[in-house]
Amino acid sequence: MKKPVIAIDGYSSTGKSSISKVIADKLGLIHLDTGALYRGVTWFALQNCKDEKGSIDLNRLFSSLDQIQLEFKNDEGELVLYLNHNDISKEIRTNEVSDNVSLVAKQKEVRDFLLQSQRSLAEKGGIIMDGRDIGTVVLPNADFKFFLTASIDERTKRRYNELLSLNIEANEQQVKENLIERDKIDSEREIAPLRQAEDAIVIDNTELSKEETIEAILSYIQKI
Ligand code: DC
Repeated sequence: MKKPVIAIDGYSSTGKSSISKVIADKLGLIHLDTGALYRGVTWFALQNCKDEKGSIDLNRLFSSLDQIQLEFKNDEGELVLYLNHNDISKEIRTNEVSDNVSLVAKQKEVRDFLLQSQRSLAEKGGIIMDGRDIGTVVLPNADFKFFLTASIDERTKRRYNELLSLNIEANEQQVKENLIERDKIDSEREIAPLRQAEDAIVIDNTELSKEETIEAILSYIQKI
């Protein structure tokens, strides 16, 4: 039987990536965290494409996109993101990247640059991809589509704890503001906005643990 293609979209810090990783392990699928790709491009821009005021110079980024090579390598079961052969898995989680990633991700040039590689990874099936536009734009024909949501306070708590576990300094109020701002930019952008696909199954996991969310998703997949 052909392995399924699964799209998981939703708001920031609803647990999309960690949940997708567990499901991928259980079902023997590849997992692609597409947010990490946008974060990787943002990290590159912050290193190489700043203007004199210290902001990202988007035109410089667009003309430098052909210098960006992003790849995931398997490091003892963990998929680690490399930018031009350097491990950037910790750098892409920093506040500087979180504060700038939505601006970078709303650019057509950036989205076009990342679209084809995401699609070609899904051609053979057997993949779970998480992001914002997977069910609507990247993989509209996915076998299963899920859309995760949770209250802003619960998502703030999760993101804050994630940062602490990575030894990244964090302030809960700033984390909350960043999530609200990011969701607003992601939802309101013109190209491929954060939106629930009409045929997606919506799961509000405010009151659910990670394990319960995984069970809910698996129950839909295994029902078929
Ligand atoms: O999932 P994340 O928080 O790591 O994603 C970082 C940002 O990347 C998020 O603010 C929006 C953007 N993104 C996107 O526009 N499309 C995707 N498929 C995945 C992420």
